[in-house]
Amino acid sequence: MTTRLRRAGLASRAFPSPAGLPAAAGGSGRSGKIGNMPADAATSPSAGRTAQLTVGVLGGTGDQGRGLGRRLAQAGHRIIIGSRDAGRAEAAAASVGDPPQVTGAANADAARDADLVIAAVPYEGHQALLAALAGPLAGKIVVDCVNPIGFDSRGAYAVPVPEGSAAQQAAAVLPDSTVVGAFHHVSAVQLLDDSVTDLGQDVLVLGDDRAATDLVQALADRLPGVRGVYAGRLRNCGQIEALTANLVSVNRRYKAHAGLRVTDIG
Ligand SMILES: NC(=O)c1ccc[n+]([C@@H]2O[C@H](COP(=O)([O-])OP(=O)(O)OC[C@H]3O[C@@H](n4cnc5c(N)ncnc54)[C@H](OP(=O)(O)O)[C@@H]3O)[C@@H](O)[C@H]2O)c1
Repeated sequence: MTTRLRRAGLASRAFPSPAGLPAAAGGSGRSGKIGNMPADAATSPSAGRTAQLTVGVLGGTGDQGRGLGRRLAQAGHRIIIGSRDAGRAEAAAASVGDPPQVTGAANADAARDADLVIAAVPYEGHQALLAALAGPLAGKIVVDCVNPIGFDSRGAYAVPVPEGSAAQQAAAVLPDSTVVGAFHHVSAVQLLDDSVTDLGQDVLVLGDDRAATDLVQALADRLPGVRGVYAGRLRNCGQIEALTANLVSVNRRYKAHAGLRVTDIG
């Protein structure tokens, strides 16, 4: 892990908490702020400050939430596993890592106490949960990995979302948060399998705020063998979510846990 962190320029820095960062000096020059965080929390060389983020995971009791939580904990993050039931969150947290680095809490407390929050709930419960948490999520980056996918006798298919995508739906109910789409194609099976030491794929990161997408790319980079790649504005997230249905088909045909690689971007 040390080699990976050093490669990412993260190994030897002392990072202040995002809330305590000085006013933006560099940054993208587009938004100036990432929610409550100064823009330079996301940009190189201060991308290293990503390492200090406390990450909350809504629906963190599920496979995807536990998988992302586990890998980010292994990368050094403080993780708060969220659930509709605090007891269930605590039990799941114990399988992800050890306190005080990894703890469990009700979703609302995870949202309140984290710097950045990943929404890892099924599409069916996504809109209502986020709308109910708009207050504690205000001023924060919310990373949406939700794939609106259905299954029938012919396999997986994309479910139409009125707002265009689950991520846009999140943005609609969270007007005071900065929503970024990411981690749609990373298999929970692989995230949870400690024998997988190199996930070997790109994470497509979408959003309308350059500083926020830069930060989430840096967060993705912290997973072993993963590169965060900017892939467009939030309005383009629908096809990214829908593509998961194609990956499910790939997985079924080839008995795999397929991920994506983008070519020719260095
Ligand atoms: N699994 C994967 O490989 C994978 C990969 C990429 C993206 N994703 C996406 O990540 C999300 C989570 O996937 P998952 O496989 O972890 O799903 P999951 O296990 O079905 O659900 C995750 C958690 O969401 C909570 N939840 C369930 N129904 C809810 C509702 N109606 N309202 C609020 N919370 C609810 C549950 O936690 P509590 O009961 O404890 O609250 C559950 O443990 C999905 O949107 C999926 O598309 C999954």
